[in-house]
Parts: sequence; structure tokens; C-alpha cells
Amino acid sequence: MHLKEIENQAILEIQSSKNKEELKLIRVKYLGRSGILAEEAKKIPQMLPEERKNFGIIFNQVKETIEKFLKEKEAAFQEQKVKDVLDLTKPGVKIFAGFEHPLAQAEEEIIKIFSTLNFSVVEGPELEEEYYNFDALNIPKNHPAREMWDTFWIKKDKNRKENLLLRTHTSAMQVRYMLSNFPPFRIIVPGRVFRYEAIDQSHSINFYQVEGLMVGENVNLANFKFIIESFFKKFFGKKIEFRYRPSYFPFTEPSIEVDIKIENKWLEVMGAGMVSRHVFDAVHYNPDKVQGFAFGMGLDRLAMIKYHVPDIRLFYENDLRFLKQF
Ligand code: DAH
Repeated sequence: MHLKEIENQAILEIQSSKNKEELKLIRVKYLGRSGILAEEAKKIPQMLPEERKNFGIIFNQVKETIEKFLKEKEAAFQEQKVKDVLDLTKPGVKIFAGFEHPLAQAEEEIIKIFSTLNFSVVEGPELEEEYYNFDALNIPKNHPAREMWDTFWIKKDKNRKENLLLRTHTSAMQVRYMLSNFPPFRIIVPGRVFRYEAIDQSHSINFYQVEGLMVGENVNLANFKFIIESFFKKFFGKKIEFRYRPSYFPFTEPSIEVDIKIENKWLEVMGAGMVSRHVFDAVHYNPDKVQGFAFGMGLDRLAMIKYHVPDIRLFYENDLRFLKQF
């Protein structure tokens, strides 16, 4: 092969090489001890002196050129490598550090807002006695109001006289709390509750509620309205309207239901009322001295409205594609 052809061939191969390893092989192929150029050099002894001189000049030029191209390409690979390792202009790599469940975020937000309204947070047991979940709240055995709550009952145990159940509402904590505390107080009780119900996009056999209870002298429905409207405005951070409808709960008198109008839709968000005398009887408070209001709201429902989640089941399926969006 003519030396210049060798040179062109070598340059072509060098320029299309993809990494340092390929480049090394090309170096060996052309400049190695038994490489193409070394083979060409073996022809020198058979040449005439004039030819030899010419050949020698071109041979050295070709060798230098190939060497130069090899070096340049090597440097380019090296630079690329440094860039890949350390490119200060690249955006940082996000470190995956876990995140809070949307229901936990909503709960935290609710707690924050109520603490600015001087409410403290207490929690109660999920496995509850029939007495606190029902009887003490003026829902006696065989009373039709019990049908408002489809209940998971725990098997009877002959060593225990109390019937156990999975609490159907956080209201069960009202009497527990009042038995060991004296008014005035303001509390909220966030927690998981259970219902023996068919599951669909707005029903789950377990979900979360936030109970509220404020008791003291002269506590009235105007106080309730102020507290609850402050809360909802803060929580949704949007313009909302309120509607109060008469309702029935055995543990409040009068009982009301609260609707809010948000994004042009009326939604039912809360049951509430003035704490019934029957409940105060169970904790030996004098209803002529203290009054109180209570309320209960579904945390899942509030989170669904706030984050535009169409199906309650999404909160319990633990699909990371869903959870990562919060
Ligand atoms: N416990 C009720 C429920 O689960 C909600 C509720 C209504 C709570 C009125 C209250 C209340 O504290 O006053 O359906």
C-alpha cells in the first residue's frame, strides 16, 4: 500500500473510533512493533539510495501525522470523560429521600391550623369499648341510631364484660377525654375509624376522621361558626361559602351539618352540634354551667377535595405512581 493511503486509512479509523480501547488497537495496528508501518519499513533495504531518502521523509511524516491524530483523539476522549464525571453546569441529581403520605400531609396541615386556634391534639384507641363508641354518646343498645354506623365487632371473650369493636368514629374519644379533664378545653382528635361497608370510590372500610370538641362557659354556636369557618378558609386557601343544615346525631342537640361551596360545587364536609346533656351526664359535667360544641369531619374527603383526588381507594393502594405526586 502507498504510504499516503495508509495515512488516510489510519486517520479515518482514528476519527471514527468510539473509545480509548479502540484507539489503543488502532495504535498497535499502525504503529506497533509488527504494525503496518513496521511492515512497510522492512522494504527499505531493497530500495535504491535515492528512493530510500524519499521514502524515509514520507515515512516519518506519515508516522508523525498518525501519532498526532492519535494524541488528539486520546485527549478528546479524556476531556469527555472528565466532563461526564464532573460537569458543573449540569443540574444536580435529586436524592430520593421518601415523602409523606397525602393523608399524613393533610392531617399535619389540619393540626397546624387548629393549634393556631388554641386546640390541642389528643388521640384515642382504635380498638374501642362499645360504651365509649355508642352508649356514652346517647346511642343505647337496640337504638335505631346504631344503624348509622355499620360496625366491626370483636368476638366476645367471656373473661371480659365489655364488648369491643373497631371504633366507627372518633367521637368515641369525647367521653374518654372528658372523664379525665375539666373544662375549659379545646381539642381535636385525628384518627383512623372503621366501617363494615361496601367499598367504592367514596367508601372505604377504614378511613380517617378529625373530631373536635370545645367545652367551657358560654360556648355557643357562634363560636363554632367562627372556628370552623376560619379553619376551612385556611385549609383550602380559597374563597368558600358555608351552609348550615339541621341534622340529627344522638350526641348533639341541636345537630347540624356543614356544607361548603368550593369551585362552584356544594359539598357536605362535617357533622356537628352542641354537645347533648346526655353526654355531659356520662362525664358528670353540669350542663347548666358548661356548654360545648363538637364536630366530626372526614380527613380523606377533605384531602380528596383539596388535592382533586377522584377515588378514596387511591389513598390505600400504596401505588407509588400516585403517592409520588404529593
Ligand atoms: N361521629 C359522626 C360520624 O361519624 C360525625 C359527628 C357528627 C361528630 C356530629 C361530631 C358531631 O362530633 O357533633 O358520622
